[in-house]
Amino acid sequence: MKRPVNEAIAEAARRITDETFVRAILTGSRKSKKPDFQRVDLRPVLIKGELKIQSISHDGKKDFTSNIPPNIEALVVLLDSGFSNVIVDSTNESYQIQITKKDEAITGIGKTKLERELDHDHKKQRLLPEDHEVFRALEMADSSGKIKASKRDKYIQIDQLLRLIEPTLSKFQKGDKIQVVDLASGSAALTLAVHAYLSERFKVATTGIERNQELINKVRIASDSAGLEGIEFRCASIKEANLDAIDVVLALHACDTATDDAIDVVIGSLPTGALIVPCCHKTRTSTAQAEVEKLPFFGNDGIVDERLLDLAMDALRAERLREAGYSVEIVEFVGDEHTARNVLIRASKL
Ligand SMILES: C[S@@+](CC[C@H](N)C(=O)[O-])C[C@H]1O[C@@H](n2cnc3c(N)ncnc32)[C@H](O)[C@@H]1O
Repeated sequence: MKRPVNEAIAEAARRITDETFVRAILTGSRKSKKPDFQRVDLRPVLIKGELKIQSISHDGKKDFTSNIPPNIEALVVLLDSGFSNVIVDSTNESYQIQITKKDEAITGIGKTKLERELDHDHKKQRLLPEDHEVFRALEMADSSGKIKASKRDKYIQIDQLLRLIEPTLSKFQKGDKIQVVDLASGSAALTLAVHAYLSERFKVATTGIERNQELINKVRIASDSAGLEGIEFRCASIKEANLDAIDVVLALHACDTATDDAIDVVIGSLPTGALIVPCCHKTRTSTAQAEVEKLPFFGNDGIVDERLLDLAMDALRAERLREAGYSVEIVEFVGDEHTARNVLIRASKL
């Protein structure tokens, strides 16, 4: 639903002060004004018996934590400081605002089932809980619903991906069917978890494309055992997949030529959004190589050369998407203690 920005923001502030409020996420940047932070997370906390809103602001490098009074005027100032995406989750509803380039607010309301926790030092609340059926089906969680130590990094990657996807998708009104395609879906932990999470909020159809038939067989078993509906896997190479009517392309750690094949699919089919986490850069183009080799300090240190080439390659990928009409951001996907491949290219047609 389209609404004036001030009305949509006042509604978000009111929800944050409500006793059912669980968390809010502020991300993105408006065309007309830029926020001071890349992202702000809000949640209610009880400090010495007094209710506050804990604010964790992230500037791309560090988190800054403060506790602010649950005061509507102060919240309106924060919410109106330039963010283009706002999600306010309460125990049973998710209220979402997307502010367009024309400074119009598109709002939507989805269903949630969350618990409100007020303790000051509680562990970070993950978007899909550890005991979600999908993690047992993927053998990432043990029978008591606890993520296995060896799978914790994957679990954190999944949580981070969901946080990055959520603002991109919040523009869809509830009831619309979102067609998601995951290219090079591999063992599909991310695909299944993303589908499980999105289908609790939107009507969503997901297709995983993977060229390894054995992986597909395993993934189908996991998907059935998690009771997921509206998801299918096809054994094909990305180039031969013949995809159409896509809304969102995912290509996560797609190795070999797959990251660039996925970008070709995006440019050919023009979905509304794409989230691409490049993998091993086997297809560094000669353009990237030639540009980087011009740098006077190139050739002195192997590891520096490698990283310069990787970054140049990702910058060129982002440029291809911009030339195809996308607004593109390159952000950190997840801390590099969890994976070395931690750059995410987020492209949106909004
Ligand atoms: C590192 S895994 C990533 C899997 C998954 N996306 C993830 O993030 O966990 C890369 C997968 O890409 C698949 N792959 C590589 N090139 C492909 C292509 N051209 N078409 C389809 N699948 C491809 C491989 O078979 C492998 O399963």
